[in-house]
Amino acid sequence: MGLRGAAASFSFLLVIIINKGLPSPLTGKEAWSYVEVRDGAHMFWWLYYADDQPAGYKDLPLVMWLQGGPGGSGSGFGNFEEIGPLNRDLEPRKTSWVQAASVLFVDNPVGTGFSYTDRADAFTTNVTMVATDMLVLLKHFFTEKAEFQNIPFYIFSESYGGKMAAAISLELTKAIEQGTVKCNFAGVALGDSWISPLDSVMTWGPYLYTTSLLDDYGLADVNSAAEAVKQAMEQQQFTKATELWSVTETVVEQNTNGVNFYNILTQQPDERRFSSAGENYIALQTRRHIGPLHSQSLSELMNGPIRKKLGIIPQNVTWGGQADLVFSYMAEDFMKPVVDIVDQLLKAGVNVTVYNGQLDLIVDTMGQELWVKRLKWDGLSGFNKLRWTPLDDPTSPGITGAFYKTYKNFAFYWILKAGHMIPSDQGPMALQMLKMITQQA
Ligand SMILES: *[C@@H]1O[C@H](CO)[C@@H](O)[C@H](O)[C@H]1NC(C)=O
Ligand SMILES: *[C@@H]1O[C@H](CO)[C@@H](O)[C@H](O)[C@H]1NC(C)=O
Ligand SMILES: *[C@@H]1O[C@H](CO)[C@@H](O)[C@H](O)[C@H]1NC(C)=O
Repeated sequence: MGLRGAAASFSFLLVIIINKGLPSPLTGKEAWSYVEVRDGAHMFWWLYYADDQPAGYKDLPLVMWLQGGPGGSGSGFGNFEEIGPLNRDLEPRKTSWVQAASVLFVDNPVGTGFSYTDRADAFTTNVTMVATDMLVLLKHFFTEKAEFQNIPFYIFSESYGGKMAAAISLELTKAIEQGTVKCNFAGVALGDSWISPLDSVMTWGPYLYTTSLLDDYGLADVNSAAEAVKQAMEQQQFTKATELWSVTETVVEQNTNGVNFYNILTQQPDERRFSSAGENYIALQTRRHIGPLHSQSLSELMNGPIRKKLGIIPQNVTWGGQADLVFSYMAEDFMKPVVDIVDQLLKAGVNVTVYNGQLDLIVDTMGQELWVKRLKWDGLSGFNKLRWTPLDDPTSPGITGAFYKTYKNFAFYWILKAGHMIPSDQGPMALQMLKMITQQA
């Protein structure tokens, strides 16, 4: 048995021990299941009950976490790399969100993580379909787990997950009004979210230039590649815009010596840094944005001990096996903005929070500021008049970890020293923000 084999058996042993129940913080209750949300479309969810003592889950909120991509798995990446009770080595995570909330991971859209489709025509092609599927899942969930119907329910998201979270939140608001879903929806939080893709792409050049990652030639190249994306968008050529978005990323890679799109202070690993000739944009997207969410060690964990523990994953379903297909079916929808949906949420009185990592490139903060300033929300001028408030990093008193601003039902958190995956980069600050948004701090 090699080192890796030994580690895997050890991990498996640990899972068995956890199942038998170890002292806190590993004693939390869990549940998981599949829902067939459409014919041939199976969605996987995994719930951790909040394990904070003495509050117990009944006194703490329920948070659904949505990963990006599309094709990134919450049950895998979000759970073991960001906010779940255990990290990828199955050791307890100090900044686990399960100490402040029950956490529901849903592998969404179908084809993501352990979710799967039986047929090619069962993949989703736009966020409307994604939201419809999720509503079916939530209806099942709140019926099966009726104990959560009155508990404040929040949706937290990252990246493309935010675009889906916005669409899902709007449909959920309608479904609650119509009485078709029983839940106590309390708000949505959009983390480094793909709400206005063009605003992100158009600000890559200026952001990289001011952080010494482009020279004048590079700035001109990135800006002209971004301009081509803008033209495709204006001509409503959305699939072309997605292809040109990918081309712009290649121009960024070439001019920055392979900056990491998820954290500008790091570089992409060598094997992912530069495109090889003839790679099409789907392959590029898989390499740049699906690959990092499906590292070999995470895949081994999910397709090894975790799959054994869960016991319900069909034999021919591989965690992450359909991830690249998920993106390719969504490619036409990918660049379309959902700013109008955020406006509808604000108008409907839903609490909306935007939070963004200072070092994120793919969804840089400059781009977020641009679409926020274009909101039609009637509170916008009041929001704009406020100054932000600094927040200490919870682990370093006196050192600023974030700034935030909140007005009526909208809030913005600027998270310092964090890239795209905020809970991985700044776990204590992310946990503090979770508590503030869910009114526990
Ligand atoms: C798994 O096998 C079943 C039965 O043969 C088939 O209907 C289904 O499409 C397969 N699913 C996947 C994800 O390959
Ligand atoms: C989303 O996709 C479905 C299924 O293809 C289609 O019926 C619907 O019109 C699409 N909606 C939008 C807003 O593009
Ligand atoms: C929305 O946030 C405000 C404070 O920011 C809070 O008073 C209110 O209860 C929240 N609404 C819901 C539905 O949780």
